Amino acid sequence: MKIRTALIGCGKVGQIHAAALRELPESEFVAVCDNNAERAASFATRFGVRPYTDLGTLLKEASPQAIVVGTPHPLHAAPVIQAALAGVSALVEKPLAASLADCDAMIAAARKAGTKLGVISQRRFYEAVRRMKDAIAAGKIGTPILGVFSMFSWRDQAYYQSDPWRGKWPTEGGGVLVNQSPHQLDLLQWFMGEIDEISGCWANLNHPYIEVEDTALAMIRFKNGGLGSIVTSLSQRPGIYTKVHIHGANGASVGVETDRGATFIAGVSEIADPPLNDLWTIPGEEGLLPVFQAEDRARFCSVNATTHYHALQIQDFLEAVRDDRPPLVTGAEGRIVVAMFTAIYRSQRERRPIKFPLES
Ligand SMILES: NC(=O)c1ccc[n+]([C@@H]2O[C@H](COP(=O)([O-])OP(=O)(O)OC[C@H]3O[C@@H](n4cnc5c(N)ncnc54)[C@H](O)[C@@H]3O)[C@@H](O)[C@H]2O)c1
Repeated sequence: MKIRTALIGCGKVGQIHAAALRELPESEFVAVCDNNAERAASFATRFGVRPYTDLGTLLKEASPQAIVVGTPHPLHAAPVIQAALAGVSALVEKPLAASLADCDAMIAAARKAGTKLGVISQRRFYEAVRRMKDAIAAGKIGTPILGVFSMFSWRDQAYYQSDPWRGKWPTEGGGVLVNQSPHQLDLLQWFMGEIDEISGCWANLNHPYIEVEDTALAMIRFKNGGLGSIVTSLSQRPGIYTKVHIHGANGASVGVETDRGATFIAGVSEIADPPLNDLWTIPGEEGLLPVFQAEDRARFCSVNATTHYHALQIQDFLEAVRDDRPPLVTGAEGRIVVAMFTAIYRSQRERRPIKFPLES
């Protein structure tokens, strides 16, 4: 059975979603919505669907069963809630929202309506990331006791000027933590487990033309007794790498370089280097690292990494709607990422560690 689908937000990342919604066998792509009529019309022509500038009209006339939302962060909640009220499931771009209050309203609306709510975290579908998750789940590193997320990346002035909502607290919701880091914040919590408390600090180090932070650091204490560290920055030109490394109680370590150089900009640049495991010291598996890397380099040549992993996650979501099961990345997990960056902001403002769970 195909799921009738629609896209809300015909912007940069919208191109990736629209292509997947058109191509996936699980999807019958019927409509797009953007409050910019020209963008909606141009996507509609390109992807052979109906254009709308009003979500209410789209829901009534095109009757989708699932929407994918690719609007700016503070504008994620409204379409999800409106869709839930019409009994329509929603897969939302990262982060789930810019605030915990929005997350709670979205999660409550979906729960009340019995609809599915998912959040994009396409790097969970990287083979290198799945290997780490499987190894941790199989107990191969023992309890994960130390998790390290480090990103040294770059965004220039032209990037921030490309859309009026970028670089401002009210319209973007934050800086590197909210926009570029949710993928790795999600991986860190997925690998390490429940968070006990977070301390953090953040600053704008070399982007004087934006309001929000370009760099943030944090220390995490996990409920399992483990520790975590975050250094995430957009201040290195050229960008260097983004990595997540997990060290286990038995001394073994696994890691992924999710991004080489600066993180790609959807609709503007492509992923130029394969995501790879860059650390694998599980006893008896030390020789596997070059084998994994060779596999991932070969796969990188056979798929378009910029679109492939989004398509895998959209496919998982549509199967979840069809089969009435939770998607791989749920709204509740999306909320954890929002709680992580909210805690880091709050920790600096209040000069103290922030205990989890966080209320909105
Ligand atoms: N997963 C990823 O790798 C990835 C990559 C890029 C962007 N994103 C996320 O995707 C989202 C959008 O980013 P972008 O770079 O595509 O932004 P964008 O500005 O290029 O696109 C946003 C679109 O939403 C439209 N819009 C705004 N308000 C709307 C409304 N109320 N109803 C309908 N349409 C509305 C805008 O007109 C615009 O066309 C953000 O959450 C961003 O963090 C994710």
